[in-house]
Amino acid sequence: MFPVHRPRRLRSNPQLRRMVAENQLTTSDLIYPLFAVPGSGIANEVRSMPGVYQLSVDKIVEEAKETYDLGIPAIILFGIPEDKDLDATGAWHDCGIVQKATEAVKKAVPDLVVMVDTCLCEYTSHGHCGYLETGDLTGRVLNDPTLELLKKTAVSQANAGADIIAPSGMMDGFVTSIRQGLDENGFEDIPIMSYAAKYASAYYGPFRDAADSTPQFGDRRTYQMDPANGEEALKEIELDIAEGADMLMVKPALAYMDIIWRVKQATHLPVAAYNVSGEYAMIKASALNGWIDEQRVVIETLTGFKRAGADLILTYHAKDAARWLQS
Ligand code: PBG
Ligand code: ZN
Repeated sequence: MFPVHRPRRLRSNPQLRRMVAENQLTTSDLIYPLFAVPGSGIANEVRSMPGVYQLSVDKIVEEAKETYDLGIPAIILFGIPEDKDLDATGAWHDCGIVQKATEAVKKAVPDLVVMVDTCLCEYTSHGHCGYLETGDLTGRVLNDPTLELLKKTAVSQANAGADIIAPSGMMDGFVTSIRQGLDENGFEDIPIMSYAAKYASAYYGPFRDAADSTPQFGDRRTYQMDPANGEEALKEIELDIAEGADMLMVKPALAYMDIIWRVKQATHLPVAAYNVSGEYAMIKASALNGWIDEQRVVIETLTGFKRAGADLILTYHAKDAARWLQS
């Protein structure tokens, strides 16, 4: 007779388990990051991210088609410019690499949602996410001059055809100023996905290899959040909502599952989790060593983000996951 409660009853076969599954990872949840470089015919594999490449625009277009054909609704574009300078010219120039890639993708695959990362770190000579005074080697990023450059960047990305603007620099007031720039230029229908709670994380290491965006001095702790803080994430979220963010992101994801959960509870907006480069690299490295089952670990990890409250997941595993979800 005992025990009376037998949770195992509902686990006894695959169909029952399917019926009572509380969360479902689907291809519609995924956003695939891509790195654009100048030139043509280029596909440089990133040393610390097996399976991830810096791609020239022609290759980005091929990749975008493949992504769309797999049923993934969106990509996010990062750019590695020809030249870097103090004004991050490559970020806001109409002939910038992300602008070119955006135009080409929208022309070839109009229905694929093109998100663009709106930040300066890939384009500044010093690798910081904002504007620094000439000759300042202390890494003191000036907030308000950065806002002007971000506004210009977002407008030129929208001009190129970007569907969603995703500012990642953690400057105070960046959603307000980008919203203003977009609205003044006729882009009031373009949503902003704010990297609202972005931590100063060592998990971004491999991304900085991919995007060539390592700060030349100092670190990002004066603008990205301290990993020790949770309440502060809610404050950041609140501010970005008040400034007009349409979607919110938590980044990284794995070490911040509690933040994903709290953010989801605190808002009615869609919440995205960024499964960052270092998280990808850890899984890839152990899978390549034969130490874990890559497919199962990836699906379990991405499903975990859903359970934590994420509506969307930015992940370098997106194409693999889409294939595995089909089979
Ligand atoms: C740029 C930016 C970074 C990432 C996305 N946008 C890196 C950073 O802040 O240094 C990291 C993404 C990843 O690690 O996959 N602000
Ligand atoms: Zn940045």
